[in-house]
Amino acid sequence: MQVLPRGFRHIPGYLDRAAQEALVEDIRLAVRAAPLYTPTMPKTGKPMSVRMTNCGALGWVTDKQGGYRYQPTHPSTGEPWPPIPGTLLELWKEVAQYSEPPEACLVNFYSGTAKMGLHQDRDEADFAAPVVSVSLGDTCLFRVGGRMRDDPTTSFKLKSGDLVVLGGESRLAFHGVDRIYPTTSTLLRNGGRINLTLRRVTKPA
Ligand code: SIN
Ligand code: MN
Repeated sequence: MQVLPRGFRHIPGYLDRAAQEALVEDIRLAVRAAPLYTPTMPKTGKPMSVRMTNCGALGWVTDKQGGYRYQPTHPSTGEPWPPIPGTLLELWKEVAQYSEPPEACLVNFYSGTAKMGLHQDRDEADFAAPVVSVSLGDTCLFRVGGRMRDDPTTSFKLKSGDLVVLGGESRLAFHGVDRIYPTTSTLLRNGGRINLTLRRVTKPA
């Protein structure tokens, strides 16, 4: 097995079933206000297989014209994103080891066939804050490497309730989701996987 970058943490089973169910309910309400949409890649306009929305003062978006960026409003409704659920703000306090709250919570929804290519999270102004992610629903195969695209990678499964923290030297580690394992969880009525990614975007004053 490859050595994982320092500062990388996988915390299996961080949320118990009741906490996962409560969080799914929070996300359901958020998605009602800020519907999932299909993001497109910069320049090519190729649609991603994952559907997305956000909570928080800022949301991460991508499209052909504008590329990767953060913005305060939903790209189709033009409305501000709904607030980040309180349980996620608490969770950040517990694991982030960072004084300020997160500003963005990206909501990724994976159907049984969706995946996410290897990438870095690097659209934030402050890499001192970690990226904290929560997995809900079906199990996925997650891959993490180093700071260079060609660095060796390690793969492992993320299950419902698991946390991943990309902090310290792993903050800019390449990572992605190679596949979803359908019907591995009963959390989401219609199956699939939700990943919630908490990020600090701006440098605190
Ligand atoms: C992401 O990198 O935005 C998502 C990672 C995941 O789905 O676990
Ligand atoms: Mn990412």
